[in-house]
Amino acid sequence: MKKTKIGIGFIGFGTVGQGVWKHLQAQREELETRLGLEISFPRVAVRDLTRERGVSVPAEVLTADPMEVVNDPGVNIVCELMGGTTKAKDYTLAALKLGKVVVSANKALIYKFGREVFEAVKTFGGHYYFEASVAGGIPIIKTLREGLVANRFESIAGIINGTCNYILSRMEAEGKSYEEILHDAKKLGYVEADDRLDLDGWDAFHKAVILAFLAHGKWVSENDALVEGIRNVTLEDMHRARDFGYRIKLLGMIRRNFKTGALSLGVYPALIPLDKTLARVDGVYNAIKLSGDVAGTTILIGRGAGQDATSSAVISDIVDAMIGIRDDAHKFLTPSDIDACYRLGETARMATMDEIRSKFYLRISILDEPGTLVGFYSVLAKHGVSVARVVTYEHPGERRGTITLATYPTSEAVMERVVEELKTLPQILTAPLLLRIYEPTHE
Ligand code: NAP
Ligand code: HSE
Repeated sequence: MKKTKIGIGFIGFGTVGQGVWKHLQAQREELETRLGLEISFPRVAVRDLTRERGVSVPAEVLTADPMEVVNDPGVNIVCELMGGTTKAKDYTLAALKLGKVVVSANKALIYKFGREVFEAVKTFGGHYYFEASVAGGIPIIKTLREGLVANRFESIAGIINGTCNYILSRMEAEGKSYEEILHDAKKLGYVEADDRLDLDGWDAFHKAVILAFLAHGKWVSENDALVEGIRNVTLEDMHRARDFGYRIKLLGMIRRNFKTGALSLGVYPALIPLDKTLARVDGVYNAIKLSGDVAGTTILIGRGAGQDATSSAVISDIVDAMIGIRDDAHKFLTPSDIDACYRLGETARMATMDEIRSKFYLRISILDEPGTLVGFYSVLAKHGVSVARVVTYEHPGERRGTITLATYPTSEAVMERVVEELKTLPQILTAPLLLRIYEPTHE
């Protein structure tokens, strides 16, 4: 029987692109045998043709024009691994318009233009696979779409940015500076070309939005979400958190109340109880805890960034895409699949700040003089915030102290008012740091 020929093209050949190439070349024969296909790699687009790369690619395959990859009749699967949201969007849409399959790791693009990309899939009959866009090597998209499809998720909590987890873990373990560790993360290929995406929480936010869409059918906008990065977290906070029985991690939190329809999404550094699995996930590892109504709690842990982990996810998409082409039956992101997601979203609405509740950690730097604590506590009391634990620290030789406290559960709206009022007190020296405390219900 004549074997189906599949051509895989690359737009972008950096950390991820080269990893996918390297592993696909190594597995090519085995994949061809297992899938009964003939695989080729006709075109690879890069920005700089003269750059030395870790893997060698025949000169005639390389091009500086991504449209050559898109338009090459021998390319059925276009791997968009260049990143960014402008040109990458144009090439993605151009390939979909030709009915091709696009495989992508580009969470920023999906966040910004997911609707448009999915509409193009519906209109032109191409397909779009994006397993590598969330949590590196963890098959979380497949888990939501297939393995746990029977579930409704009351909460999805995840450490979904490898760079931030790597930085926080090493700062705590080694007492090293944020900058020093960020430098190492860049060398290891974890960090986005624009590192603000990682450090300010946006990359994790984009990933959380993708998960929320798949689980709840809503595209959450940044105006409806709490997004904070890790820049304000100090080593001192990590030590104080530990004294209270917690570790600090950048957490993506998606919560849904199925009675009221309220959906909330946030990304922020959170205190996690030391005995919980998420608190023990270190380095570049990601973890996602899914609380489903049928399966109960499922926790997936794996490498969240870097060449090999991400390549593993991209290759899993490529294999699905090849099977889809071979059998003329793609099982993922079909038009009915997309419609089903949107139907899910019809019963969801974004939660108000009054509805989003948790315990909080507050760190505040105060002038050390009689009566300061009274003013501080009266603000909390006025807003009905009950304090669960408090520790005050002196700074020998200085006229200042630090207060750290943990509250009982209260709402985001209340804590926002508390922080605003605290800032007006004359004895407050710097803006208070407010972090959320994650209290898992099951595990
Ligand atoms: P990268 O190392 O910066 O590679 C980007 C590649 O795209 C480079 O080969 C670059 O060419 C090429 N490129 C950029 N603009 C281009 C243009 N206009 N025309 C042609 N080629 C262009 O990035 P990466 O880390 O591999 O990330 C790629 C994608 O995967 C991003 O969407 C990222 O968010 C996502 N991702 C990355 C990881 C990770 O751990 N790195 C994990 C998950 C997802 P030159 O080499 O010539 O400059
Ligand atoms: N910069 C991202 C991270 C890459 O650190 O998690 C993986 O998506």
